[in-house]
Amino acid sequence: LLSQMGPDALLTMILRKHPSQRSAEDLEVIYEELLHVKAVAHLSTSVRKELAAVLVFETHGKAGTVLFSQGDKGNSWYIIWKGSVNVITHGKGLVAKLREGEDFGQLALLNDAPRAATIILREDNCHFLRVDKQDYIRILKDVEANTVRLEEHGHTVLVLEKSTTDSTDQGGAGGSSKYTVMSGTPEKILEHLLEKVKLDTNGNDTIDSCVGDFLLTHKIFMASSQLCPALVLYVTNARCRDLNPSRTYHAQPPKGSELEKADYSLAARQKVVKLLGQWVLLYGRLLKDDPVALDFLEVSSHHLKWNCLKGAIYGELSCLPLLIMSRVSVVFFTLVLYEISRPDNIPITLMLPVNTSVQEVLSAVVKPGADYVLVKMNSMGGGFHDARPLKEQQGPEQGTADALEQMCSKDVASQLTHYDWELFTAMHEVELIYYVFGRSKFPGATTANLQRFVRRFNEVQYWVATEVCLCQDLMKRAALLKKFVKIASVLKEQRNLNSFFAVMFGLSNSAVQRLYKTWEVSGRGVLGGAGVCVMDPSRNHRAYRLAVAKLSPPYIPFMPLLLKDMTFIHEGNKNYKDKLVNFEKMVSQTKLFVHHKCGSCTKLINFNVKALVSFASDIKCISIFCSG
Ligand code: CMP
Repeated sequence: LLSQMGPDALLTMILRKHPSQRSAEDLEVIYEELLHVKAVAHLSTSVRKELAAVLVFETHGKAGTVLFSQGDKGNSWYIIWKGSVNVITHGKGLVAKLREGEDFGQLALLNDAPRAATIILREDNCHFLRVDKQDYIRILKDVEANTVRLEEHGHTVLVLEKSTTDSTDQGGAGGSSKYTVMSGTPEKILEHLLEKVKLDTNGNDTIDSCVGDFLLTHKIFMASSQLCPALVLYVTNARCRDLNPSRTYHAQPPKGSELEKADYSLAARQKVVKLLGQWVLLYGRLLKDDPVALDFLEVSSHHLKWNCLKGAIYGELSCLPLLIMSRVSVVFFTLVLYEISRPDNIPITLMLPVNTSVQEVLSAVVKPGADYVLVKMNSMGGGFHDARPLKEQQGPEQGTADALEQMCSKDVASQLTHYDWELFTAMHEVELIYYVFGRSKFPGATTANLQRFVRRFNEVQYWVATEVCLCQDLMKRAALLKKFVKIASVLKEQRNLNSFFAVMFGLSNSAVQRLYKTWEVSGRGVLGGAGVCVMDPSRNHRAYRLAVAKLSPPYIPFMPLLLKDMTFIHEGNKNYKDKLVNFEKMVSQTKLFVHHKCGSCTKLINFNVKALVSFASDIKCISIFCSG
C-alpha cells in the first residue's frame, strides 16, 4: 500500500500520526519537507529536527472558520501547510492574508499575551502544522537573532526582536517577556504594549518598563493629540467586539462565553486605565503643560469610570485629582539681576526671580501710588549705560576660607548634596528628552530645571576655584585645598557624583593647577584620597561607569556625561527606520537615566519615585529599598 501512495499522501499520512508514533524515517521525511517551508527554512537543522518530532497536523474544512479570536489565550503556533487565512484586528478589520508556508500565532506565546488578532480561514479544507506552546518555547527559546515582523496591508507595522539583555531588565513581565519592540508605527507599538499589560486581581499587575519608555518619549513620534484618540479607539474597538462580533468582520461569532467577551472589553479598559495611571505618575504636575493630555485625562476619568474600576486596580488613579489640582510648577526660579534706570539717572539694581513680570519689577522699585511710567525695557544687556559689568556681576573679592575652615567637610558636603537632591528631584526625566531632542520641537515643554541643575555644576566648580584663588595665605590655601579634596571624597560617599566631579573639576581649573607651591605644601598625593581614578576619561569614562554600576540607587549621576551619552545616541540613530518609529532608540535613551532612581526594581511602578517625592514635598531625602 505504501509503495502505491504518492509522496504527498505519504507525507500526509506521516503527519497525521501522533508525534509519539512517528518512526525515525518518518521524522526524516518531515524534516526534509520542512526545508521547503518558508516559516522554518531559516532555522537550524537541529531546531527543524526537533520540530519534526512535535508537529501536529490539523485540518479545517470550512472557509470562515475562526481558528482563534483576538484576546484569546494563546496555546499554539501554526504554520500554514495548505490554504490561506485572514488576519483581522479590532477596528481595522482585515489587515493581512497569510498563505502556504507562512506562520502565525507566535506573538501570544512569546510575550505571554492574549492573541493580537483573529485568524479566519479564507478557503475550505485548510491544513496546518501546529506546535503547542510548551514545545514552541522549549525548541525556539534559544534560537538566536529571532525577529518577528508584522504586516498590515503589505507594510511592516511592528518589528520585535529577541532582546540580548537578561530578562530582569525587561520590567514587570520578568522572564517571559523576551521580545522587545525594535520599531513600528506609533499606533501598533501602543497596541502591542497595551496587549502586554498583565492584569492581576491581587493588584500585582505588571506593566512593562517599555510603557514608561513609550510615555517618556511619545512626543517625539506621537503627539498627545494622536495618543489620546488612539487610546479611545483601543477601548472602543474592544467594546465593539462584544456588542456584535460579526459587525466588524464577516465570520461565525467567535467561541467563548458572553462572560469572556465582557471580560475582554473590561480588560481593555483596565489596561488603558493602567497606562493612564502610569502617565499621571510619570508626568505628575508637568501634565499641566500638556493641555491635550490634561483634558483627556479629566474627561476619560469620567468616561472610563475609573472610580468603579478603582477597586480592581488598587486606587492608583485616586492620585489623579490630587496631581491635577496641585498645579504648582516645580521650577526653581533663579534670581537674576535687574537693572532699572530712573529719571534722575541713578541706576537701581535688584535681584528678582527670572520670571518676574514688568508689573512686579515696577512695584519692587517704586512705592505704591507713586506716579511712574515705564518708558523702555531691554533684555539681554544693551541697557542705557555702556556695557561695563556692574559691581554685583563681578563676583566676590574676598574668599570665605576662614569660615570654611571652621566647618567640617562632612557638613559642607551634606549641605551640597541636600541642595543637589532638591534640584535633581525638581528636574523631570522628560526634560532630558526635550533637551537632547531639541526643546523647540516640543511646544510648551520646559527644560528649566535641567538647565538649573547643569548650571549648579558650573557654580560649584567655579566656587571651588574662586575660593582657592582668593585665599591669600599659602598655608591656609594648602589647607583649603585639602579640605576640598576631603569634601569631594565625602560627596562621592554620599553618591553625589555630580558635585564630586564639580569639586574635582574646580581643583583641576588651570588657575588652581598652577599654584605649584600650594600643591607642594598640601602634599602631592592629596588628590589620590578623593578617588580621582573615577575621573579618568579614557575608554569612554570606563572607570566612572564601572564605579556607577556598583552603586545601588538612588544616586546623583555626573550630569554632563549623561547628557553627552544621550546626545551621542541621539545623533547616531535616526528617529525613524524605514518610516517606522525607531523605538529601540527611545528605549536606549530612557535606559540611560531611569536607573538612577531605582534600578533593579520592577514591582514598584517603574518611575513613580519622582511622583512620591513630589507628593511629599516636605520630605527632603528619600531612600528607596527594593527587595531582591
Ligand atoms: P498571535 O498574537 O499569537 O495571534 C494572532 C497572530 O496573527 C499573531 O500572533 C501574529 O502571528 C499574526 N499577525 C500577522 N499580522 C499581524 C498584525 N498585523 N497584527 C497582529 N497580528 C498579526
